Amino acid sequence: MTEPLRVGKAELLSALSYALDLTEGQPEGHGVRCCWIGMTIGRAIGLSGADLNDLYYTLLLKDIGCSSNAARICELYLTDDREFKRDAKLLDESLPQVLRFVLSHTGLKAGLSERFRSLVTIFTTGGTIARELIETRCQRGAEIVRMMRFPETVATGILDLDEYWNGKGKPTGLSGTGISIHARIALIAQVADVFHTSAGPLAARREVERRAGSWFDPQLAAAFGALAIDPAFWATLAAPDLKAIVIAMAGDDSSDGVDEDYLDDVAVAFAEVVDSKSPFTSGHSKRVALFTDMIAEEMGLDEARRRYLKRVALLHDIGKLGVSNQILDKPGKPDEEEWQTIRSHPALSEMILSKIAAFADLARVAGAHHERLDGRGYPNGISGDAICAGTRIVTTADIFDALTADRPYRTAMPVSQALGIMEKDLGTALDPDCFHALARAMRKLEKAAA
Ligand SMILES: [Fe+2]
Ligand SMILES: [Fe+2]
Repeated sequence: MTEPLRVGKAELLSALSYALDLTEGQPEGHGVRCCWIGMTIGRAIGLSGADLNDLYYTLLLKDIGCSSNAARICELYLTDDREFKRDAKLLDESLPQVLRFVLSHTGLKAGLSERFRSLVTIFTTGGTIARELIETRCQRGAEIVRMMRFPETVATGILDLDEYWNGKGKPTGLSGTGISIHARIALIAQVADVFHTSAGPLAARREVERRAGSWFDPQLAAAFGALAIDPAFWATLAAPDLKAIVIAMAGDDSSDGVDEDYLDDVAVAFAEVVDSKSPFTSGHSKRVALFTDMIAEEMGLDEARRRYLKRVALLHDIGKLGVSNQILDKPGKPDEEEWQTIRSHPALSEMILSKIAAFADLARVAGAHHERLDGRGYPNGISGDAICAGTRIVTTADIFDALTADRPYRTAMPVSQALGIMEKDLGTALDPDCFHALARAMRKLEKAAA
């Protein structure tokens, strides 16, 4: 299927916000629910036009920089980054809570001495580290939304997300109306959703009220309070069709189909989110897209098909956002439970991408990238002709990059050695035509470089 796709911008980005929920360890739909809560506040205080439109995308994409600090959280706190992030949002910054939080989240699986070292690091440098983590996340997030051609107002909304009304937030310590209005609304929406999903509407209302004037803009907190008193507010938030409601809330231009160039930009931006998660996957999706395109060119595929496959390659590992860095960056072999989690990522990729109606085919092609011709792959163990030509190309590119890039357990290997290893799997794991196309492309590259 290579004809132009018809996808609305709001549909596209609300679907991809599910990938960000995975990284944040949030219950599915957190981004979409925040969008609804924040937009309802925005409308109630009279925001309109471009302001409301920018608020919409700030809310949907608020966590887009989140994957960039996942590796560092694991390294410092020896814990599951997704669990840590989820619970960190429930935490106020009073000392007993911080202590309880650190003690319950540090090194659950690590040995005692590592756990102790990690605790010392947190107690001596906790503030600085938290600032650094938030700085990375906010700046990276702002850069990524700029890649998707959003205006500075959206980038600033994401930059200011962790700033508090009283000036005690991070990373800059901005205060009051010096903080972007979009960020002030997003912070309330985020806390309200986290408390609502973990403890119910009353807990969410109490928490917003309690933090009014410290974390939150008091006027916005009051606007939320007035809305949240109505049971219909919570009924809509829990509605099964909330995603459709949120898509319908987008500004006029958002339901227009986005063009092919824009789809490419969004695919590159989300590849960046995936690749930022771990130092060992840095640049992986982009390289797989390049190798995919080299193979496709060698095989004589037309421009439209090549463009489509590049997009598949950029997004093939989006489900890895749901795998903790404790597993992804592990220097040794994963244990059975960890291996199961790793093996879930292609199905997660498919689940996320299939939320975009026009991506149904792309989702299937991407979701099969760890299948093998002999049926011994995962997640479904399909074999032979059931694995389509597009998937075979992406799989070949993916394995080639896995062998030629650094991994937690070994350094990169030379091209000839990687091709030699892959050759042994022809007909069992790999498609021979795709492999030979790759080998030819590499020989051409070598000649050109000589
Ligand atoms: Fe993968
Ligand atoms: Fe991959």
